[in-house]
Amino acid sequence: MQTLKIDKLSGSLGASIVNFSLHDLAEEDFQQVASALWEHQVLVFKCQALPIEDHIALGKRFGALHTHPAARGVNSHPEVLWLNNRGKKKNITQVWHSDVSCEEKPPSISVLQAIQIPPFGGDTMWANQYEALDRLSPALREMLMPLSAVHKSFDLEAVHPVVRTHPETGRKALYVNGGFTQHFEGMSVAESKPLLEYLVAQGSQPDLTMRHSWSVGDIVMWDNRCVMHYAVHDYADLGREMHRVTVQGEQPI
Ligand code: SIN
Repeated sequence: MQTLKIDKLSGSLGASIVNFSLHDLAEEDFQQVASALWEHQVLVFKCQALPIEDHIALGKRFGALHTHPAARGVNSHPEVLWLNNRGKKKNITQVWHSDVSCEEKPPSISVLQAIQIPPFGGDTMWANQYEALDRLSPALREMLMPLSAVHKSFDLEAVHPVVRTHPETGRKALYVNGGFTQHFEGMSVAESKPLLEYLVAQGSQPDLTMRHSWSVGDIVMWDNRCVMHYAVHDYADLGREMHRVTVQGEQPI
């Protein structure tokens, strides 16, 4: 059994796990990683450089893998999403989002590995959506509790509760985002816009976030059920390539 040494990365969420290998994890080591993920929501593992088969195997420890409905995978591995720099205008990840929340059963866990990193920039940020909900005034929380919202993209549409309960921790988290959430169910886009924008802005306040500056071979895993994330596109036309293995989630409740 490996020793899991946890260094917190911000006051709100995220932890770095040092001197720990993700290659071919023993069951008890996987259980330690999963518990740390439920607690810290985002885990950073430096210097892993997992071969693609090991990256896939790591994702599968959490459950069946998700295949992206629109974007291409890596060569003969459709379940490994290939994220590369196609220019700022075509970038769709520089927005606070939870992965593919337009699906009925949106991804639970994402496991991202850095393959090529620009000489500067290209960081990723995450924001704690348990705390985002806790910070709202009790009256607004009460108002949101029975609401659902429509999430839409890639010709897919799904209706999810605005406040979801995490199946592992039992904690409630805000579940709207700037990438996919279109409107509250039963309200128009125009009626929904001010409150949705307010919730995403509140949910991404700087002191709810952590930020990772990548090196090639780093692995970061996060829990889409209680965080939003944002990929900062500040590296112009320089090369940035990432591989993401994403775990099929459950219907949010
Ligand atoms: C994503 O999963 O949204 C991409 C994150 C990144 O490229 O840093």
